[in-house]
Amino acid sequence: MTLEQVIKLLNLDLSWEYAAMIQYIQHASMLTGPQYFAIINEELQHAQDEHDHAVKLSDKIQYLGGIPTVQVQEIKTSLNNVEMLRQDLEAEYEALNRYLQRIEQLEALKLYDVAQVIREIALVEQGHIIDLEKSLGIQKVR
Ligand SMILES: [Fe+2]
Ligand SMILES: [Fe+2]
Repeated sequence: MTLEQVIKLLNLDLSWEYAAMIQYIQHASMLTGPQYFAIINEELQHAQDEHDHAVKLSDKIQYLGGIPTVQVQEIKTSLNNVEMLRQDLEAEYEALNRYLQRIEQLEALKLYDVAQVIREIALVEQGHIIDLEKSLGIQKVR
């Protein structure tokens, strides 16, 4: 994997962060019902976290000599509360998966500093996964 390829992949990550931010803002507005009241604030916090991730990724892409993308990936939505939370959780699983790959790829290029930033982002995505799994009542006992 070359530096150019990693920059391309970081731009892919950035475009998914923009999509995640918009998706959370829209879902926060559309979620409704007394049991979703607390989750609405959770979703708005996630939107802010994704904004923060987008800024960090954009800066690292520029630092590495790339041009940060302004593309936005596909945003999913629904009129069903549970379906929206499932869409959010699915996107978080995919994001964490992408970032774990990115850490390996960056470290293979000895870009330990940029990999550290991605690690911090990955930890926040893990927190989002935990929030959403709990919101959906997913049991994880093995
Ligand atoms: Fe994110
Ligand atoms: Fe997230």
